[in-house]
Amino acid sequence: MANEQIDAPKRVIFGLSMKLITMIIAMIMVVEVLIYLPSVANFRINWMDDRVHVAGVAARVIETVPDTMDLTPDTVSKLLSSAQAEALVVRTQGQSQLIERADMPMPVAAYAADTRERAPLDLIGRALEVLFFGSNRTMRVIGVPMDNQDVVVEVLVNEALLREELITYSRNIFWLSLLVASFTSFAIFLFLNGLLIRPITRLTRNMISFRQDPDDARKIIIPSERGDEVGVAERELAAMESNLFAMLKQKQHLADLGLAVAKINHDLRNTLGAAQLLSDQVANLDDPHVQRLAPRLVHTLDRAINFCQSVLDYGRHKSVAPRFEPVDLRALLDECATDAAVRMHPEIEWHNQVEDDVIIRVDPDQIARVLTNLLKNAREALEPLSLQDGQNLSISATLIANDQQVRLFIEDNGPGLSPRAKENLFRAFEGSGRAGGTGLGLAIAKELVEAHGGQLNYIETEKGTKFEICLPR
Ligand SMILES: Nc1ncnc2c1ncn2[C@@H]1O[C@H](COP(=O)(O)OP(=O)(O)OP(=O)(O)O)[C@@H](O)[C@H]1O
Ligand SMILES: [Mg+2]
Repeated sequence: MANEQIDAPKRVIFGLSMKLITMIIAMIMVVEVLIYLPSVANFRINWMDDRVHVAGVAARVIETVPDTMDLTPDTVSKLLSSAQAEALVVRTQGQSQLIERADMPMPVAAYAADTRERAPLDLIGRALEVLFFGSNRTMRVIGVPMDNQDVVVEVLVNEALLREELITYSRNIFWLSLLVASFTSFAIFLFLNGLLIRPITRLTRNMISFRQDPDDARKIIIPSERGDEVGVAERELAAMESNLFAMLKQKQHLADLGLAVAKINHDLRNTLGAAQLLSDQVANLDDPHVQRLAPRLVHTLDRAINFCQSVLDYGRHKSVAPRFEPVDLRALLDECATDAAVRMHPEIEWHNQVEDDVIIRVDPDQIARVLTNLLKNAREALEPLSLQDGQNLSISATLIANDQQVRLFIEDNGPGLSPRAKENLFRAFEGSGRAGGTGLGLAIAKELVEAHGGQLNYIETEKGTKFEICLPR
């Protein structure tokens, strides 16, 4: 087979499995980030609430003492460290009490964070700000302890404490997310691998190996029992491969048969050639009987040889894909009219009505064969009529074109198709309605036009014969 021409299948580097795992991990991480943002904001506000709560407890303690001056440094230190605070301010009904360490100067707060303000986006923004830009400065956490609405406490704390806890929290969330993403993607992968990837890989491998050796029936895929789309794909592939295999076998048989016919034909043509030589000599004899019969003999042999030659040509004619190039249609038509002996014909008028600047993209050789054959057919149909006087014989080419397609009409005012030709139109060897014709011309022409993605149609007319060549632009 034509295995040598098949390109080696490309190696899959970033296959379905890798794509799937990467995509699942990425998706889970994106989801985790979306969950993380509110959660980190929540963590910060809870942390501040805790400070406020502890400060509220401290406020209770202070209430029991008539004067804050009476608090011992030890009690103050305990109160402050329970809230991790540097200093506390408790405001009750216009009064405010300050609790600070005696051994340290009162710190200056860089900014205030009020726990009563809880706009979600704002909370997220502030949490991220601490996380990325937080430093060793002091923040003033303001809030109302839960159990006492009349009291407002202000806790002065070092921002670095909050930042450190935020970092630890974020790191934990990151590792946890990664773990969850890995487990999930692995689980989904295992599931999809069995369900999709493995069957698809099997289908792909089978296609590659069948393409490399379509003669081998063992390469036809054996479909599984699955009822889903993969099962359908497997069964369809199996059916397609079986059909292809059968078609190839049939083609091979036909090719073998064709070869045998061509060989026989070849020898037959040579034998007829020898007979033709003899008949030429016979034609030179003086005998009046011979003189009368010889031309018919020569003519018959000529036709037989031509027939053999056409069959051989047809056998040699391979379906070559057209090589498209821009072609001037009017010039091509004139050229073909010359080849078909239509152009300078003494009795037949040739009307090329295609405008000068019509350029179409076709294979010029193949379309020339089509046109020449149509024009030759028309001439062959008209020539017997040309013997009768007073007839105006003509062949014309006209065009209707738009952006999508060109429709070229080849028309003559001859006798029209014979019933036999009409019945077997475009059928190789069967369509000939004239003596000496092989009936191959129209069949080949149709094949060539169709290879261009077009159509060759016979158009019924009142007089003469009209063919239409439809080509996509
Ligand atoms: N313009 C025409 N006018 C009348 N009959 C035609 C015309 N064109 C084709 N035919 C008929 O159709 C038949 C088939 O044509 P086709 O070109 O396929 O074969 P052919 O001309 O007989 O042989 P060849 O293979 O040498 O071309 C012709 O024999 C002829 O009878
Ligand atoms: Mg012909």
